[in-house]
Amino acid sequence: MHVVSTAALPIDLTGQITAAVPGTTVDVPAHGHVGLAGVDLAAADALVCLLLDRIDAAVFARAPKLRVVANCAVGIDNIDLAAATAAGVCVTNTPDVLTEATAELAFALLLAAARRVGEGEQLVRSGTWTGWALDQLIGVGLTGKTLGIIGFGRIGQAMARRALAFGMSVIYANSRPAADPVPGAPAARGPLPVDEVFATADAVSLHCPLTAETRNLVDARRLALMKPTAILVNTARGGCVDEAALADALTRGRLFGAGLDVYAREPAIDPRLVAARGAVLLPHLGSATAETRAAMAQRCADAVISLLRGHRPPNLVNNVAPPWSHRS
Ligand code: GLV
Repeated sequence: MHVVSTAALPIDLTGQITAAVPGTTVDVPAHGHVGLAGVDLAAADALVCLLLDRIDAAVFARAPKLRVVANCAVGIDNIDLAAATAAGVCVTNTPDVLTEATAELAFALLLAAARRVGEGEQLVRSGTWTGWALDQLIGVGLTGKTLGIIGFGRIGQAMARRALAFGMSVIYANSRPAADPVPGAPAARGPLPVDEVFATADAVSLHCPLTAETRNLVDARRLALMKPTAILVNTARGGCVDEAALADALTRGRLFGAGLDVYAREPAIDPRLVAARGAVLLPHLGSATAETRAAMAQRCADAVISLLRGHRPPNLVNNVAPPWSHRS
């Protein structure tokens, strides 16, 4: 059997797989991301890929032996799940291990946008800071304010816990009537209609997957519902936000700020967003801690090893029937 990866990983994928399933060959690039063009799909029984790799019916047609795609991400919008299921290919993702890291970054963006951290840093670095002033870079406080969360799953709830610890109250919207209740779920009010969350909250943070329903969920109409002192945080997917409408709202002062980690056409960013006052922009770093990235890669290794051993892979996200180790 043959395993390919479109990217170098922070674990010893080759060592783990050849120890677990002797006789397997593993092709992992030494550095960086080589993409689908850089791997031998025709020979692959298992593929480890990144959110940068678009996996669709054309890929499955080129990979007749493929039985599992282990996506090194929790989001799976880069994969055509229906095409995978039709091709009998298991798709797995990396939930749980990136929950806290992503919530940490989302909260960092909320704080940075509220307290104008990016602008302050630029002022200091530019060498033009002339000293303390009573009216300098005035932000908005978070204590006592309301955070609205769109998508009250694992990451949304982790964000809620952070907001509660900062003295905020939390409201949320969720696509299902009740969010998956977890033991110790944070004390938040919801689920509420999405529009009510946008109209009521002092800051809104997106934690929903990108689907047909959530594409452009934050559009000009919803931005107009927000308070002019409000902040939008997006660590989910860029496609959930109409970036032109957001740039417009920021530029016209219709919104206090935005903390963005993700963009609709990464790595391109709407130049009006780059220019907009109040936008704090990061380069898709949500899960970017050493321990989290290693744990994500480990989830991929575990999925591939399970499948090659003929077991149901953990974190399977599509409906593929057993037997796991053979395609009909
Ligand atoms: C990162 O964006 C992920 O989906 O894991």
